[in-house]
Amino acid sequence: MDSKNNISLKPFNTFGFEVRHRGLITIHDENDIKDCLKNQITPFKIIGGGSNILLTRDIDAYVLHNAIKGIQIVKEDDRHVWVTIGGGELWHDFMLWSIDKNLGGLENLSLIPGSVGAAPMQNIGAYGVEQDACFEYLDAICLEDGEWTRFDKTACAFGYRESVFKSTLKDQFFITRVTYRLDKPPHQLHLSYGAIQDILTSQNITQPTIHDVSAAVIQIRQSKLPDPKELGNAGSFFKNPVISKVLYQSLTNDFPALPHYPVSDTHVKVPAGWLIEHCHFKGKSYKHVGVHKNQALVIVHYGHGEGHEVLELAQQIQTRVRDTFGIDIIPEVNIW
Ligand code: EPU
Repeated sequence: MDSKNNISLKPFNTFGFEVRHRGLITIHDENDIKDCLKNQITPFKIIGGGSNILLTRDIDAYVLHNAIKGIQIVKEDDRHVWVTIGGGELWHDFMLWSIDKNLGGLENLSLIPGSVGAAPMQNIGAYGVEQDACFEYLDAICLEDGEWTRFDKTACAFGYRESVFKSTLKDQFFITRVTYRLDKPPHQLHLSYGAIQDILTSQNITQPTIHDVSAAVIQIRQSKLPDPKELGNAGSFFKNPVISKVLYQSLTNDFPALPHYPVSDTHVKVPAGWLIEHCHFKGKSYKHVGVHKNQALVIVHYGHGEGHEVLELAQQIQTRVRDTFGIDIIPEVNIW
């Protein structure tokens, strides 16, 4: 366990904001967490890949950085392989590892920034697949008493960009390792997202492999989403709102092109990016931040700004979307 209080948090959040804190403590294994608890290093906040947080103010707490590494096959049968990954591994490194081993199921989640430990917390998803599709269990340490607990899928209460770790158990557990069940070939591919199929067709790929799907996803992400290494951002800033079919029907009078996806007999999901674009925010800047030019759901940091500027812009967007469509959009990013 090493603790340093003069370390910049800039490289630890993909927005690239600078804030002060009491000390950054790198967690290499489970014992490091127990040492923190024994030495009463409190209060603290946990940071993983920092790809889904917005730092809006100085942190009057220690920051624990999850650096638990390792990718290990723990079980295998004719069809599946169970893999346990350290929470501090980068998600995309795990994707590269799976594709190299020809293990399928999560290839649509290629190139998502962030750490493996944060993936179940956020229930990350893209292009028709969410991580819970292959999730088996995760191991976590209770920050109250240092006890080890295993959470299965039911205990995690996964929802759309939601889990128990974002709601009732927020800040109560440190996710040390996550186990996924991946598929051996022949693979069942998820090609429902039109743009994936378009890329495969344009490349005359008629029998795609998980490698081809991963490459197509990477191509789509690189064309639409800014690379946090070049332009600070945390992916989608808002969740896509779920609205009643009654409201959707009434909105189509004024906005017949409003896209929607079925959710239930009574509700539909609408893309927040579309709503924001139709409020004329796409490509707009505010102080040192702005709305991305290719994807209105992404707020970007041009440099030298502060996190509260994102919050101010987000509030302006929320107000305009509410006034125009009568819809509340809520952040999916965790605001500190
Ligand atoms: N759209 C616009 N203007 C925009 C952006 C989107 O009109 O600027 C409309 C278009 O109609 C488009 C539809 O929104 O057809 C959906 O857009 P897109 O496929 O880009 O997906 P999204 O709903 O904006 C979600 C996830 C992304 C994920 C993509 C692909 C959320 C909050 N975001 O975005 O996840 O990559 O689908 O599956 O659900 C993330 O969570 O950080 C993230 C990037």
